[in-house]
Amino acid sequence: MKNYSQARGEHPIEIRLARNSEAQALAEMSRKLIEQGLTWRWQSPQMLSRIKHPDSVVLVARTRVELVGFAVMEFHDIHAHLNLLAVSSTGRRRRTGTSLLNWLEKSALEAGIGQVVLEVRYNNMGARSFYRENHYEEVEVLPGYYQGKENAVRMVHHLIEPEIEKQRP
Ligand SMILES: CC(C)(COP(=O)(O)OP(=O)(O)OC[C@H]1O[C@@H](n2cnc3c(N)ncnc32)[C@H](O)[C@@H]1OP(=O)(O)O)[C@@H](O)C(=O)NCCC(=O)NCCS
Repeated sequence: MKNYSQARGEHPIEIRLARNSEAQALAEMSRKLIEQGLTWRWQSPQMLSRIKHPDSVVLVARTRVELVGFAVMEFHDIHAHLNLLAVSSTGRRRRTGTSLLNWLEKSALEAGIGQVVLEVRYNNMGARSFYRENHYEEVEVLPGYYQGKENAVRMVHHLIEPEIEKQRP
């Protein structure tokens, strides 16, 4: 049966782990969609080292013809940090961002991690709404967080209730 996207003539989207050969394309997406106006930090070598790192997960969302999104998460002992998440402008509002996030949150929870933390540009109202919609709470404003040029908002999603997490050794 065709899903809604297919009925609109769009290609179905597959989410999977990134391959080494995709590092350059992901770096370009980061520069264009996330790091615009800032010094480009997430270049191909940085992306490749995250793809290879045992404590990171890099996901891609692809149609049969193109890359439409990606996400990078770093796993620590008690929290995970969402470093990057983007969906190409033509592929938005199809739940791709939500699917990438859900995959990573499920992995974190299975690893016993209680919270996901991220920072987002203060002026990025669309992304702030997207994260709020996905149960992230805005906990702090970080002045000049982005290379001294822009403020960030720190957001947290408790995968495990804080009361329950406190009981852990
Ligand atoms: C933020 C982003 C990842 C969302 O991806 P997406 O695939 O379009 O998001 P989804 O389709 O899963 O959205 C789920 C819900 O979040 C909310 N949402 C998503 N984008 C939104 C926007 N621009 N404005 C307001 N609400 C938004 C909506 O409630 C949406 O549900 P709806 O479409 O039924 O209304 C995407 O817009 C993006 O890549 N932006 C540029 C890069 C960026 O800002 N990354 C985040 C900071 S690193």
